[in-house]
Amino acid sequence: MTVYLVGAGPGDPELVTVRGARLIAAADVILHDRLAEPLLELARPDTELVDVGKAPGAAPISQEQINQLLVEAGRRHHCVVRLKGGDPYIFARGAEEVEALRRGGIDYTVVPGISSVLAAPAAAGAPLTTRGVSRTFTVLSGHTEPDTWPDGYAASLVGIGGTIVVMMGAARIARIAATLIAAGADATTPVAAVRSATTPDEIVARATLGNIEPVLLGSPSVFVIGEVAGLDLR
Ligand SMILES: C[S@@+](CC[C@H](N)C(=O)[O-])C[C@H]1O[C@@H](n2cnc3c(N)ncnc32)[C@H](O)[C@@H]1O
Repeated sequence: MTVYLVGAGPGDPELVTVRGARLIAAADVILHDRLAEPLLELARPDTELVDVGKAPGAAPISQEQINQLLVEAGRRHHCVVRLKGGDPYIFARGAEEVEALRRGGIDYTVVPGISSVLAAPAAAGAPLTTRGVSRTFTVLSGHTEPDTWPDGYAASLVGIGGTIVVMMGAARIARIAATLIAAGADATTPVAAVRSATTPDEIVARATLGNIEPVLLGSPSVFVIGEVAGLDLR
């Protein structure tokens, strides 16, 4: 009786881990996100599939409901897989699901996945760290408006001087870019964007912080900001 939080990887079904694929094939029930759907082909025909993804326009299942479903499934089944896009602990509320399982006394294991934090820059040919160019990268949620960021936050991002990766920022990247410029970033800093990385719908675009228009590709996108975004190593 174990619930496995399995990282599905960024989209391409070949980018799941060997362990993740083995667990999907062994699962009695799989609770999955929408973006993880291509991997369901690996499941047995008799595996119960529960879509807990938040499809655009559909009534969303609350995180509380997902937690409850996981605990109930963990009590009823030998092998439960909670299949989550990318990595279960990167902007994915995996910690809340683990906490619910702990409270419910259910055994669990987290199986990491390849996050789009890594896969999208690779798809754009933008190496996040590169000797002599960038020796650090900062991963940023673009979920909140930059004018609500804490005082000094943008300046500290710029001050670190490496690569910035923006997740969940498709709706706000123009305001994020303007905020970084106002905090001292050079308007000519390269930006790369990847929408739907590693899927048949993948699009890569390049721009600069001062002219962000070309990278407004819609969601889901990852943005890479910094000199490495100008290295197109595809
Ligand atoms: C709620 S977060 C989930 C992240 C996921 N846990 C991961 O590790 O990749 C959703 C955001 O991840 C990014 N994302 C996920 N999959 C993506 C993909 N295939 N291509 C581009 N961005 C992706 C986008 O920034 C999107 O807004």
